[in-house]
This record gives sequence, structure tokens and C-alpha cells, in this order.
Amino acid sequence: MIVCHCHAVRAEEIRTEVRLGAETVEVVGARCGAGTRCGGCIPAVEAVIADEQARMRAAVPAPH
Ligand code: FES
Repeated sequence: MIVCHCHAVRAEEIRTEVRLGAETVEVVGARCGAGTRCGGCIPAVEAVIADEQARMRAAVPAPH
């Protein structure tokens, strides 16, 4: 699914950047371009970032 239509950035590309350490829409944008033209996709980019971060937290066991 394309999230940023200006730069044709797919959700999976954003998820990959989050898994590689990008934590904000600014960093994701710097790495793949999402959200850096019209800005209309920024809420959707933020939602993908938050969803991937939640997935990552769920996959990591809680420390003892
Ligand atoms: S749709 Fe992403 S910057 Fe325009």
C-alpha cells in the first residue's frame, strides 16, 4: 500500500526504516522521502511508524 503518493513510498518501506531505527516522521522522511513534499501523508506516515513501533515492542520480551 502506498502511503506517500508524492514519492510513491510504500508502508513496508516505512516499516523497514522504523526497524532500522527511525523514530520520527522527520527521520523517516530524510531516509525515504515520505512526507517531504506536500505533507498530506504525514498523519498516515506517523500512524505506520506508531504501528511498527508497537509491533516491535510486542515482539521483544519484557525485561526481568
Ligand atoms: S503524499 Fe507524501 S508528501 Fe505528499
